[in-house]
Amino acid sequence: MRTKDVADRLYVALDFDSLDEALRLVDRLGDAIRSYKVGMQLFYKVGPAVVERLHAAGCNIFLDLKFHDIPNTVAGATSSAASLGVSMVNVHAAGGVEMMKRAKEAATTTAESLGIPAPLVIAVTQLTSTDQRMMNEQIGIPGTVEETVIRYAKLAQAAGLDGVVASGHEVAAIREACGDRFVTVIPGIRPAWAAANDQKRVLTPATALAAGAHKLVVGRPITHAADPRDAALRILEEMAAALPA
Ligand code: C5P
Repeated sequence: MRTKDVADRLYVALDFDSLDEALRLVDRLGDAIRSYKVGMQLFYKVGPAVVERLHAAGCNIFLDLKFHDIPNTVAGATSSAASLGVSMVNVHAAGGVEMMKRAKEAATTTAESLGIPAPLVIAVTQLTSTDQRMMNEQIGIPGTVEETVIRYAKLAQAAGLDGVVASGHEVAAIREACGDRFVTVIPGIRPAWAAANDQKRVLTPATALAAGAHKLVVGRPITHAADPRDAALRILEEMAAALPA
């Protein structure tokens, strides 16, 4: 498999607070990377203009704003996000089935009315910064993190969502519970040559794909590399080698 074939499975996280920095990186990565994750830091600073500029540069966008509110408000937020033409948006599974259903319906209806492709709507299960003790003692959910992730993944699927964001350590269990077509989006990816930074439970790109991950999210190993394009190409090569030809 060629690196071009895996490129649509890798989102680079644009965790910057200015449009200039983000566009500089996109320019440096050139045709190696066409999919980017825009999160709260960049979106709340720059607004929808960042989406317009990245679309103009031919990029796909995962808008990572993690909606969590009453169903009506989340439906409105998801509709607004879908109207920007992004390829993927997310909500917190903790918002419940009704909220997730309304998000998915809003994304579909808005995209249809505008004649544009609907974004994938996926659910955040448990943040990778949450450990079992915090989940049990502070959030008040008993059991293990994996049990909660699987329960949330099943609820997201029942609500009609397209997939979940989860740690790579839970990918295999999610696939077993929800099937191969339920999309898994995995952050916390670190090639063997990169620093872990603040990520605790990391997987290499090859291990994450071998476990069944559909899409990987990588930030600092690429964005903070001395040569970001070279780092991206090395990751794409590792991904290509991990998949069947
Ligand atoms: O730089 P790094 O590769 O750690 O970036 C990972 C990206 O994925 C960041 O934008 C982070 O906010 C996001 N993310 C995460 N863990 C989650 C959900 C999102 O690291 N559970």
